[in-house]
Amino acid sequence: MSTETELTGSPYHGPFDLILAGGQVVDGTGVARRLADVGILGDRIAAVGDLAAMPAASRRDVSGLIVAPGFIDTHTHDDNALLAWPEMPYKVSQGVTTTVVGNCGVSLAPLALSRELPRPLDLIADAPDYRFRRFRDYLDALDADPPAVNAAALAGHTTLRAGAVGSLDRAAARDEIRAMAIGLEEALEAGAIGLSTGLYYDTARAAPTSEVVALAHVVARFGGLYTTHLRDEGARVAEAIREAFTIGREARVPVVISHFKVAGRANYGRSRETLALIEEARRAQPVAIDAYPYTAGATELSMDRVVTADRVLVTWSKPMPEMAGRDLHALAGEWGVPVEEAVRRLHPAGAIYFQMDEADVRRILSWPETMIGSDGLPRDVHPHPRLWGTFPRVLGHYSRDLGLFSLEEAVRHMTSIPAERFGLAGRGVLRQGAFADLVVFDPARIADRATFEAPIAPAAGIELVMVNGRAVWEGGGHTGARPGRALRRADLDAPMRGLGWAS
Ligand code: ZN
Ligand code: CU
Repeated sequence: MSTETELTGSPYHGPFDLILAGGQVVDGTGVARRLADVGILGDRIAAVGDLAAMPAASRRDVSGLIVAPGFIDTHTHDDNALLAWPEMPYKVSQGVTTTVVGNCGVSLAPLALSRELPRPLDLIADAPDYRFRRFRDYLDALDADPPAVNAAALAGHTTLRAGAVGSLDRAAARDEIRAMAIGLEEALEAGAIGLSTGLYYDTARAAPTSEVVALAHVVARFGGLYTTHLRDEGARVAEAIREAFTIGREARVPVVISHFKVAGRANYGRSRETLALIEEARRAQPVAIDAYPYTAGATELSMDRVVTADRVLVTWSKPMPEMAGRDLHALAGEWGVPVEEAVRRLHPAGAIYFQMDEADVRRILSWPETMIGSDGLPRDVHPHPRLWGTFPRVLGHYSRDLGLFSLEEAVRHMTSIPAERFGLAGRGVLRQGAFADLVVFDPARIADRATFEAPIAPAAGIELVMVNGRAVWEGGGHTGARPGRALRRADLDAPMRGLGWAS
Protein backbone atom coordinates (compact mmCIF):
# COMPACT_ATOMS: atom_id res chain seq x y z
CA MET A 1 0.00 0.00 0.00
CA SER A 2 1.31 3.39 -0.92
CA THR A 3 0.76 5.70 2.01
CA GLU A 4 1.87 9.08 0.81
CA THR A 5 1.09 9.38 -2.85
CA GLU A 6 -2.14 11.38 -2.66
CA LEU A 7 -0.53 14.57 -1.50
CA THR A 8 2.92 14.36 -3.05
CA GLY A 9 3.89 15.49 -6.49
CA SER A 10 1.82 18.59 -7.08
CA PRO A 11 1.79 21.56 -4.72
CA TYR A 12 -1.29 21.97 -2.55
CA HIS A 13 -2.62 25.48 -1.96
CA GLY A 14 -5.24 24.85 0.66
CA PRO A 15 -7.53 25.07 2.34
CA PHE A 16 -5.75 23.54 5.33
CA ASP A 17 -7.14 22.42 8.65
CA LEU A 18 -4.20 24.02 10.42
CA ILE A 19 -1.11 26.00 9.48
CA LEU A 20 1.83 26.04 11.88
CA ALA A 21 3.26 29.40 10.87
CA GLY A 22 6.77 30.78 11.04
CA GLY A 23 8.59 27.90 12.75
CA GLN A 24 12.03 26.51 12.13
CA VAL A 25 11.51 23.20 10.35
CA VAL A 26 13.94 20.42 11.28
CA ASP A 27 12.78 17.77 8.84
CA GLY A 28 14.43 14.70 10.40
CA THR A 29 16.94 14.00 7.62
CA GLY A 30 19.75 15.89 9.36
CA VAL A 31 19.76 18.93 7.03
CA ALA A 32 19.96 22.38 8.63
CA ARG A 33 16.74 23.94 9.96
CA ARG A 34 14.86 26.33 7.69
CA LEU A 35 12.09 28.84 8.16
CA ALA A 36 8.84 27.38 6.78
CA ASP A 37 5.13 27.06 7.45
CA VAL A 38 3.64 23.59 7.77
CA GLY A 39 0.12 23.02 6.46
CA ILE A 40 -1.93 20.11 7.80
CA LEU A 41 -4.96 18.55 6.17
CA GLY A 42 -6.62 15.54 7.76
CA ASP A 43 -3.94 13.16 8.97
CA ARG A 44 -1.27 14.47 6.57
CA ILE A 45 1.22 17.23 6.06
CA ALA A 46 -0.22 18.82 2.93
CA ALA A 47 2.41 21.49 2.29
CA VAL A 48 5.68 22.88 3.66
CA GLY A 49 6.85 26.35 2.62
CA ASP A 50 5.53 29.90 2.54
CA LEU A 51 1.82 29.43 3.21
CA ALA A 52 1.11 32.98 4.40
CA ALA A 53 -1.46 33.69 1.67
CA MET A 54 -3.23 30.34 1.87
CA PRO A 55 -6.57 29.62 3.51
CA ALA A 56 -6.74 27.58 6.71
CA ALA A 57 -9.39 26.80 9.29
CA SER A 58 -6.87 27.75 11.94
CA ARG A 59 -3.39 29.18 12.07
CA ARG A 60 -0.92 28.96 14.93
CA ASP A 61 2.16 31.13 15.30
CA VAL A 62 5.16 28.94 16.16
CA SER A 63 7.91 31.46 15.43
CA GLY A 64 11.04 30.89 17.45
CA LEU A 65 10.13 27.21 17.86
CA ILE A 66 11.35 24.04 16.18
CA VAL A 67 8.85 22.00 14.16
CA ALA A 68 10.06 18.41 13.78
CA PRO A 69 8.65 14.98 12.91
CA GLY A 70 7.23 13.23 15.98
CA PHE A 71 9.79 11.10 17.75
CA ILE A 72 9.85 7.33 17.32
CA ASP A 73 10.58 5.42 20.52
CA THR A 74 12.31 2.36 19.08
CA HIS A 75 12.52 0.35 22.27
CA THR A 76 9.62 0.19 24.70
CA HIS A 77 7.60 -2.04 26.96
CA ASP A 78 4.32 -0.23 26.37
CA ASP A 79 2.37 -3.31 25.17
CA ASN A 80 -0.11 -3.33 28.03
CA ALA A 81 0.11 0.39 28.79
CA LEU A 82 -1.31 1.16 25.33
CA LEU A 83 -4.50 -0.58 26.45
CA ALA A 84 -4.48 0.10 30.18
CA TRP A 85 -3.50 3.82 30.14
CA PRO A 86 -4.05 4.76 26.50
CA GLU A 87 -3.39 8.49 26.88
CA MET A 88 0.31 7.64 27.28
CA PRO A 89 1.31 10.95 28.91
CA TYR A 90 4.93 9.85 29.47
CA LYS A 91 5.26 9.41 25.69
CA VAL A 92 3.43 12.38 24.24
CA SER A 93 4.84 14.81 26.84
CA GLN A 94 8.30 14.21 25.39
CA GLY A 95 7.22 14.41 21.76
CA VAL A 96 6.97 10.69 21.04
CA THR A 97 4.31 9.86 18.46
CA THR A 98 5.17 6.23 17.64
CA THR A 99 6.29 3.47 19.97
CA VAL A 100 7.79 0.06 19.15
CA VAL A 101 6.50 -2.49 21.67
CA GLY A 102 7.24 -6.14 22.41
CA ASN A 103 10.97 -5.80 23.07
CA CYS A 104 13.39 -7.95 25.04
CA GLY A 105 11.47 -11.14 24.27
CA VAL A 106 8.45 -9.85 26.18
CA SER A 107 5.23 -9.11 24.27
CA LEU A 108 1.69 -9.15 25.57
CA ALA A 109 0.60 -11.40 22.68
CA PRO A 110 0.28 -14.11 21.59
CA LEU A 111 -0.31 -15.71 24.97
CA ALA A 112 -3.31 -16.88 26.95
CA LEU A 113 -1.60 -17.74 30.17
CA SER A 114 -2.35 -21.08 31.79
CA ARG A 115 0.58 -21.16 34.20
CA GLU A 116 2.13 -18.88 36.77
CA LEU A 117 3.43 -15.73 35.08
CA PRO A 118 7.11 -16.35 34.33
CA ARG A 119 9.65 -13.57 34.74
CA PRO A 120 10.34 -11.19 33.09
CA LEU A 121 6.83 -11.13 31.60
CA ASP A 122 5.77 -9.43 34.84
CA LEU A 123 7.77 -6.35 33.82
CA ILE A 124 4.92 -5.24 31.56
CA ALA A 125 1.72 -6.78 32.91
CA ASP A 126 0.00 -9.04 35.44
CA ALA A 127 -1.07 -12.58 34.63
CA PRO A 128 -4.72 -11.70 33.74
CA ASP A 129 -3.49 -9.11 31.21
CA TYR A 130 -2.03 -11.95 29.11
CA ARG A 131 -5.33 -12.66 27.42
CA PHE A 132 -4.60 -12.54 23.70
CA ARG A 133 -4.18 -16.02 22.35
CA ARG A 134 -3.76 -14.58 18.87
CA PHE A 135 -1.65 -11.56 17.98
CA ARG A 136 -4.50 -10.41 15.79
CA ASP A 137 -6.69 -10.00 18.88
CA TYR A 138 -4.11 -7.71 20.47
CA LEU A 139 -3.89 -5.47 17.39
CA ASP A 140 -7.68 -5.46 17.08
CA ALA A 141 -7.95 -4.37 20.72
CA LEU A 142 -5.70 -1.40 19.90
CA ASP A 143 -7.92 -0.54 16.93
CA ALA A 144 -11.07 -0.78 19.06
CA ASP A 145 -9.80 1.52 21.83
CA PRO A 146 -6.91 3.46 20.30
CA PRO A 147 -4.05 4.97 22.28
CA ALA A 148 -2.67 8.48 21.87
CA VAL A 149 0.37 7.24 19.93
CA ASN A 150 1.00 4.89 17.01
CA ALA A 151 2.37 1.47 17.84
CA ALA A 152 4.37 -1.11 15.93
CA ALA A 153 4.54 -4.46 17.69
CA LEU A 154 7.08 -7.25 17.91
CA ALA A 155 6.29 -10.80 18.99
CA GLY A 156 8.43 -11.85 21.93
CA HIS A 157 10.38 -15.10 22.07
CA THR A 158 9.88 -15.46 25.83
CA THR A 159 6.13 -14.91 25.39
CA LEU A 160 6.08 -17.63 22.73
CA ARG A 161 8.10 -19.89 25.04
CA ALA A 162 5.69 -19.30 27.90
CA GLY A 163 2.87 -20.56 25.69
CA ALA A 164 4.61 -23.51 24.09
CA VAL A 165 7.56 -24.81 26.10
CA GLY A 166 6.95 -27.14 29.03
CA SER A 167 9.81 -25.95 31.15
CA LEU A 168 11.53 -22.63 30.52
CA ASP A 169 14.91 -23.65 31.94
CA ARG A 170 15.74 -25.86 28.98
CA ALA A 171 15.96 -25.69 25.19
CA ALA A 172 12.68 -26.08 23.35
CA ALA A 173 12.06 -29.54 21.90
CA ARG A 174 11.33 -29.94 18.23
CA ASP A 175 7.54 -30.01 18.63
CA GLU A 176 7.73 -26.99 20.94
CA ILE A 177 9.69 -25.04 18.36
CA ARG A 178 7.00 -25.98 15.86
CA ALA A 179 4.31 -24.68 18.21
CA MET A 180 6.22 -21.40 18.70
CA ALA A 181 6.68 -21.08 14.93
CA ILE A 182 2.93 -21.44 14.40
CA GLY A 183 2.24 -18.72 16.97
CA LEU A 184 4.87 -16.48 15.42
CA GLU A 185 3.48 -17.06 11.94
CA GLU A 186 0.03 -15.98 13.09
CA ALA A 187 1.57 -12.87 14.69
CA LEU A 188 3.46 -11.91 11.54
CA GLU A 189 0.42 -12.53 9.37
CA ALA A 190 -1.63 -10.30 11.64
CA GLY A 191 0.90 -7.47 11.40
CA ALA A 192 3.74 -8.01 13.87
CA ILE A 193 6.89 -6.35 12.55
CA GLY A 194 9.27 -9.05 13.75
CA LEU A 195 10.60 -11.12 16.63
CA SER A 196 12.35 -9.98 19.80
CA THR A 197 14.44 -12.00 22.23
CA GLY A 198 15.68 -11.46 25.76
CA LEU A 199 18.34 -14.16 25.87
CA TYR A 200 19.81 -12.61 29.01
CA TYR A 201 16.78 -13.60 31.10
CA ASP A 202 16.43 -16.94 32.95
CA THR A 203 13.33 -17.91 31.00
CA ALA A 204 15.08 -17.63 27.62
CA ARG A 205 18.72 -18.21 28.48
CA ALA A 206 18.49 -21.96 27.92
CA ALA A 207 17.45 -21.38 24.31
CA PRO A 208 20.41 -22.22 22.08
CA THR A 209 21.20 -20.08 19.05
CA SER A 210 19.57 -22.73 16.85
CA GLU A 211 16.19 -22.26 18.57
CA VAL A 212 16.23 -18.56 17.73
CA VAL A 213 17.48 -19.21 14.18
CA ALA A 214 14.55 -21.56 13.60
CA LEU A 215 12.11 -18.79 14.56
CA ALA A 216 14.06 -16.12 12.70
CA HIS A 217 13.53 -18.14 9.52
CA VAL A 218 9.79 -17.59 9.98
CA VAL A 219 10.43 -13.85 10.40
CA ALA A 220 12.42 -13.81 7.14
CA ARG A 221 9.47 -15.24 5.21
CA PHE A 222 7.36 -12.25 6.24
CA GLY A 223 10.01 -9.59 5.69
CA GLY A 224 10.25 -8.78 9.41
CA LEU A 225 13.22 -7.99 11.60
CA TYR A 226 14.91 -9.40 14.68
CA THR A 227 15.58 -7.35 17.83
CA THR A 228 17.52 -8.66 20.79
CA HIS A 229 18.40 -7.99 24.38
CA LEU A 230 21.75 -9.73 24.16
CA ARG A 231 22.62 -12.82 26.15
CA ASP A 232 25.36 -10.83 27.84
CA GLU A 233 26.02 -7.08 28.07
CA GLY A 234 29.02 -7.49 30.37
CA ALA A 235 32.17 -9.58 30.17
CA ARG A 236 30.94 -11.65 27.22
CA VAL A 237 29.27 -8.84 25.29
CA ALA A 238 31.38 -9.39 22.15
CA GLU A 239 30.36 -13.05 21.93
CA ALA A 240 26.73 -12.08 22.46
CA ILE A 241 26.91 -9.49 19.65
CA ARG A 242 28.39 -12.13 17.36
CA GLU A 243 25.56 -14.48 18.21
CA ALA A 244 23.07 -11.82 17.09
CA PHE A 245 24.94 -11.43 13.80
CA THR A 246 24.91 -15.21 13.30
CA ILE A 247 21.14 -15.35 13.82
CA GLY A 248 20.68 -12.52 11.31
CA ARG A 249 22.93 -14.12 8.72
CA GLU A 250 21.62 -17.67 9.03
CA ALA A 251 17.99 -16.63 8.74
CA ARG A 252 18.72 -13.60 6.55
CA VAL A 253 16.88 -11.12 8.76
CA PRO A 254 17.92 -7.57 9.69
CA VAL A 255 19.12 -7.30 13.31
CA VAL A 256 18.51 -4.58 15.90
CA ILE A 257 20.62 -4.80 19.05
CA SER A 258 18.58 -3.29 21.86
CA HIS A 259 19.73 -0.78 24.49
CA PHE A 260 23.27 -1.05 23.19
CA LYS A 261 25.65 -0.77 26.12
CA VAL A 262 28.57 -2.29 27.99
CA ALA A 263 27.67 -2.98 31.60
CA GLY A 264 29.85 -3.43 34.66
CA ARG A 265 32.90 -1.51 35.81
CA ALA A 266 35.32 -4.08 34.39
CA ASN A 267 33.95 -3.37 30.91
CA TYR A 268 33.99 0.42 30.97
CA GLY A 269 35.43 1.75 27.73
CA ARG A 270 34.59 -1.30 25.65
CA SER A 271 32.05 0.55 23.48
CA ARG A 272 35.01 1.31 21.19
CA GLU A 273 35.37 -2.40 20.58
CA THR A 274 31.64 -3.16 20.36
CA LEU A 275 30.86 -0.29 17.97
CA ALA A 276 33.72 -1.49 15.78
CA LEU A 277 32.04 -4.91 15.67
CA ILE A 278 28.81 -3.29 14.50
CA GLU A 279 30.59 -1.28 11.81
CA GLU A 280 32.36 -4.36 10.54
CA ALA A 281 29.19 -6.47 10.45
CA ARG A 282 27.30 -3.76 8.58
CA ARG A 283 29.53 -4.32 5.56
CA ALA A 284 27.94 -7.74 5.22
CA GLN A 285 24.44 -7.60 6.75
CA PRO A 286 21.78 -5.12 7.94
CA VAL A 287 22.36 -4.24 11.61
CA ALA A 288 21.06 -1.37 13.73
CA ILE A 289 21.26 -0.36 17.39
CA ASP A 290 19.23 1.69 19.84
CA ALA A 291 20.27 3.34 23.10
CA TYR A 292 18.98 5.48 25.97
CA PRO A 293 20.83 8.50 27.37
CA TYR A 294 21.63 7.37 30.93
CA THR A 295 24.42 5.48 32.73
CA ALA A 296 21.86 3.41 34.64
CA GLY A 297 19.62 0.64 33.38
CA ALA A 298 16.52 -0.90 34.92
CA THR A 299 14.97 -4.34 34.96
CA GLU A 300 14.08 -7.01 37.52
CA LEU A 301 16.01 -7.13 40.79
CA SER A 302 18.56 -9.93 40.67
CA MET A 303 21.76 -10.61 42.57
CA ASP A 304 23.93 -11.16 39.48
CA ARG A 305 23.19 -7.59 38.38
CA VAL A 306 23.55 -6.15 41.86
CA VAL A 307 27.15 -7.34 42.15
CA THR A 308 28.30 -5.53 38.99
CA ALA A 309 26.51 -2.23 39.70
CA ASP A 310 27.90 0.82 41.49
CA ARG A 311 24.52 1.64 43.04
CA VAL A 312 21.04 0.04 43.02
CA LEU A 313 17.59 1.65 43.50
CA VAL A 314 14.40 -0.36 44.04
CA THR A 315 11.73 0.45 41.40
CA TRP A 316 8.96 -1.83 42.74
CA SER A 317 8.51 -4.75 45.11
CA LYS A 318 5.55 -7.11 45.40
CA PRO A 319 5.92 -7.88 49.12
CA MET A 320 7.19 -4.39 50.07
CA PRO A 321 5.71 -1.79 47.70
CA GLU A 322 6.67 0.98 50.14
CA MET A 323 10.35 0.36 49.39
CA ALA A 324 10.09 1.68 45.79
CA GLY A 325 12.65 4.44 45.32
CA ARG A 326 14.96 3.23 48.12
CA ASP A 327 18.67 2.48 47.80
CA LEU A 328 19.23 -1.28 48.10
CA HIS A 329 22.46 -1.09 50.09
CA ALA A 330 21.01 1.50 52.47
CA LEU A 331 18.05 -0.81 53.05
CA ALA A 332 20.30 -3.78 53.77
CA GLY A 333 22.20 -1.58 56.25
CA GLU A 334 18.99 -0.49 57.98
CA TRP A 335 17.81 -4.06 58.26
CA GLY A 336 21.25 -5.22 59.41
CA VAL A 337 21.32 -8.00 56.78
CA PRO A 338 23.60 -8.87 53.85
CA VAL A 339 22.52 -7.48 50.46
CA GLU A 340 21.59 -11.01 49.31
CA GLU A 341 19.04 -11.21 52.11
CA ALA A 342 17.62 -7.78 51.26
CA VAL A 343 17.16 -8.90 47.65
CA ARG A 344 15.43 -12.05 48.86
CA ARG A 345 13.02 -10.09 51.07
CA LEU A 346 12.09 -7.66 48.30
CA HIS A 347 11.52 -10.33 45.66
CA PRO A 348 9.81 -10.22 43.21
CA ALA A 349 11.02 -6.72 42.54
CA GLY A 350 12.55 -4.35 40.01
CA ALA A 351 15.63 -2.17 40.22
CA ILE A 352 17.68 0.60 38.64
CA TYR A 353 21.36 -0.28 38.26
CA PHE A 354 24.11 2.31 37.89
CA GLN A 355 26.39 0.20 35.77
CA MET A 356 27.68 2.15 32.76
CA ASP A 357 30.46 4.55 31.92
CA GLU A 358 29.43 8.06 30.87
CA ALA A 359 32.09 8.04 28.14
CA ASP A 360 30.58 4.86 26.67
CA VAL A 361 27.09 6.38 26.75
CA ARG A 362 28.33 9.46 24.90
CA ARG A 363 30.26 7.42 22.37
CA ILE A 364 27.21 5.27 21.61
CA LEU A 365 24.81 8.24 21.38
CA SER A 366 27.23 10.01 19.03
CA TRP A 367 27.59 7.08 16.67
CA PRO A 368 25.92 8.35 13.47
CA GLU A 369 23.41 5.51 13.14
CA THR A 370 22.21 5.07 16.74
CA MET A 371 18.45 5.17 17.24
CA ILE A 372 16.95 6.46 20.48
CA GLY A 373 14.84 4.05 22.52
CA SER A 374 13.66 4.77 26.06
CA ASP A 375 13.29 1.20 27.38
CA GLY A 376 10.91 2.78 29.91
CA LEU A 377 8.87 0.54 32.19
CA PRO A 378 5.51 2.31 32.65
CA ARG A 379 4.31 -0.07 35.38
CA ASP A 380 7.13 0.65 37.81
CA VAL A 381 6.07 2.47 40.96
CA HIS A 382 9.34 4.42 41.00
CA PRO A 383 10.41 4.20 37.36
CA HIS A 384 13.76 4.93 35.79
CA PRO A 385 13.62 8.59 34.63
CA ARG A 386 14.13 7.44 31.03
CA LEU A 387 10.39 6.71 30.95
CA TRP A 388 9.59 10.46 30.97
CA GLY A 389 12.91 12.02 30.04
CA THR A 390 14.74 10.16 27.25
CA PHE A 391 14.05 12.35 24.21
CA PRO A 392 14.30 15.80 25.83
CA ARG A 393 17.48 14.65 27.56
CA VAL A 394 19.13 13.86 24.23
CA LEU A 395 17.98 17.21 22.79
CA GLY A 396 18.62 19.38 25.85
CA HIS A 397 21.41 17.83 27.89
CA TYR A 398 23.45 16.01 25.26
CA SER A 399 22.89 18.16 22.18
CA ARG A 400 22.40 21.75 23.41
CA ASP A 401 24.20 21.74 26.78
CA LEU A 402 27.11 19.40 26.07
CA GLY A 403 27.30 20.02 22.31
CA LEU A 404 27.77 16.34 21.58
CA PHE A 405 25.93 16.71 18.24
CA SER A 406 23.74 19.27 16.51
CA LEU A 407 20.03 19.52 17.15
CA GLU A 408 19.35 18.43 13.57
CA GLU A 409 21.50 15.34 14.11
CA ALA A 410 19.79 14.54 17.43
CA VAL A 411 16.38 14.74 15.74
CA ARG A 412 17.60 12.46 12.93
CA HIS A 413 18.44 9.77 15.52
CA MET A 414 14.83 9.85 16.77
CA THR A 415 12.97 10.21 13.48
CA SER A 416 14.29 9.31 10.02
CA ILE A 417 16.80 6.67 11.13
CA PRO A 418 14.24 4.65 13.13
CA ALA A 419 11.56 5.13 10.44
CA GLU A 420 13.88 3.70 7.80
CA ARG A 421 15.20 0.87 9.95
CA PHE A 422 11.72 -0.26 10.99
CA GLY A 423 10.15 0.60 7.61
CA LEU A 424 7.62 3.00 9.16
CA ALA A 425 6.23 4.29 5.86
CA GLY A 426 5.24 7.95 5.76
CA ARG A 427 6.72 8.75 9.16
CA GLY A 428 10.00 10.09 10.50
CA VAL A 429 10.51 12.84 7.91
CA LEU A 430 8.61 16.15 7.83
CA ARG A 431 7.58 16.59 4.21
CA GLN A 432 4.54 16.99 2.03
CA GLY A 433 2.49 13.80 2.01
CA ALA A 434 3.83 12.37 5.25
CA PHE A 435 1.60 11.65 8.22
CA ALA A 436 1.14 14.70 10.41
CA ASP A 437 3.05 13.27 13.40
CA LEU A 438 4.72 16.43 14.69
CA VAL A 439 6.41 17.94 17.68
CA VAL A 440 6.84 21.68 18.26
CA PHE A 441 9.43 22.59 20.90
CA ASP A 442 11.54 25.43 22.20
CA PRO A 443 15.22 24.65 21.50
CA ALA A 444 16.38 26.93 24.30
CA ARG A 445 14.12 25.44 26.95
CA ILE A 446 13.76 21.78 26.07
CA ALA A 447 14.96 19.64 28.98
CA ASP A 448 14.21 16.44 30.83
CA ARG A 449 12.87 17.08 34.31
CA ALA A 450 12.49 13.48 35.44
CA THR A 451 15.28 12.53 37.85
CA PHE A 452 16.28 9.36 39.68
CA GLU A 453 14.85 10.89 42.85
CA ALA A 454 11.62 12.25 41.29
CA PRO A 455 11.14 10.28 38.06
CA ILE A 456 7.57 11.19 37.15
CA ALA A 457 7.75 14.61 35.50
CA PRO A 458 6.93 15.89 32.02
CA ALA A 459 9.70 17.56 30.02
CA ALA A 460 10.13 21.31 29.73
CA GLY A 461 9.86 23.08 26.39
CA ILE A 462 7.46 20.79 24.49
CA GLU A 463 4.75 23.11 23.15
CA LEU A 464 2.62 20.96 20.86
CA VAL A 465 2.54 17.29 19.83
CA MET A 466 0.33 15.98 17.03
CA VAL A 467 -0.39 12.40 16.02
CA ASN A 468 -2.02 11.74 12.65
CA GLY A 469 -3.03 15.40 12.42
CA ARG A 470 -4.57 15.70 15.88
CA ALA A 471 -3.12 17.47 18.91
CA VAL A 472 -2.40 15.14 21.82
CA TRP A 473 -0.23 17.42 24.00
CA GLU A 474 -0.62 21.17 24.08
CA GLY A 475 0.36 23.93 26.49
CA GLY A 476 1.84 21.50 29.00
CA GLY A 477 -1.12 19.15 29.19
CA HIS A 478 -2.79 16.22 27.49
CA THR A 479 -5.68 17.06 25.15
CA GLY A 480 -7.39 13.73 25.81
CA ALA A 481 -7.23 12.83 22.10
CA ARG A 482 -6.23 9.28 21.18
CA PRO A 483 -5.54 9.31 17.43
CA GLY A 484 -2.86 6.57 17.48
CA ARG A 485 -2.91 3.58 15.15
CA ALA A 486 -1.72 0.00 15.32
CA LEU A 487 0.80 -0.17 12.48
CA ARG A 488 0.83 -3.46 10.63
CA ARG A 489 3.65 -5.05 8.69
CA ALA A 490 1.64 -5.14 5.45
CA ASP A 491 1.18 -1.35 5.51
CA LEU A 492 4.86 -0.63 6.05
CA ASP A 493 8.01 -0.54 3.96
CA ALA A 494 10.66 -3.25 4.09
CA PRO A 495 12.88 -2.80 7.16
CA MET A 496 16.41 -1.45 6.79
CA ARG A 497 16.19 -0.40 3.17
CA GLY A 498 19.59 0.77 2.08
CA LEU A 499 21.44 -1.60 4.41
CA GLY A 500 22.21 -4.55 2.23
CA TRP A 501 23.62 -8.04 2.24
CA ALA A 502 27.13 -8.69 1.04
CA SER A 503 26.01 -11.80 -0.84
ZN1 ZN B 1 16.05 -5.40 27.51
CU1 CU C 1 13.83 -3.50 27.03
